Amino acid sequence: MNNLIAPATSRRKILSGGMGVAAAASLSTDGAASLPLLAPRGRHDGDPRRPAEQVEDKRSLGSGEDAMAFSIKVNGNTHSVDVDADTPLLWVLRDVLGMTGTKFGCGMALCGACTVHVDGVALRSCITAIGSVGQSEITTIEAIGATAAGAQIQKAWLDREVVQCGYCQSGQIMSASALLARNRHPTDADIDDAMSGNICRCGTYLRIREAIKQAAGPIGKD
Ligand code: FES
Ligand code: FES
Repeated sequence: MNNLIAPATSRRKILSGGMGVAAAASLSTDGAASLPLLAPRGRHDGDPRRPAEQVEDKRSLGSGEDAMAFSIKVNGNTHSVDVDADTPLLWVLRDVLGMTGTKFGCGMALCGACTVHVDGVALRSCITAIGSVGQSEITTIEAIGATAAGAQIQKAWLDREVVQCGYCQSGQIMSASALLARNRHPTDADIDDAMSGNICRCGTYLRIREAIKQAAGPIGKD
């Protein structure tokens, strides 16, 4: 099993959202038949792992009749994006802003790979329309380490060597850090409830639970 565990340097990249191409490439070689949740789908088609030479395609996202400018706040910065109001936040993050730490898995709120925080609440960005975001504060995996809970979760993830292939892990970390921010000492039931929507095909669930417990620390040590 050791060959399935990413080396420490790779794990650090994943934890900060820097894992795009390598992991996506390794996953895509598994084939769609073995990984149906990763099959491209959706209005914008679909391939959030598009190569750099297709960057120009991003321009087309805002070329529809309904495209308009939206001002959104991501990781403390304000961005103006020209897209249709029903464009999923995930596409804006990945295809317009180039922030690829947030992953595309199912596009149907079924896997949790696309989880981000909107005003501190963990949401599935694949079904969150950009027109519904308003001036909410969006936080992604690229900046979660700047929050107290996120830093604790990331340290625990490294200490417990949670990551295997890594594809689901940015979403896992976002859900875990949202849980820890609102509940300093989650029970097993709290953890199961908060993490139940995040699927890991590598089966890292036990290590995720242990890492969340480590990050929470013993009661009375706050
Ligand atoms: S991509 Fe699977 S829940 Fe959003
Ligand atoms: S670590 Fe591979 S899918 Fe979760």
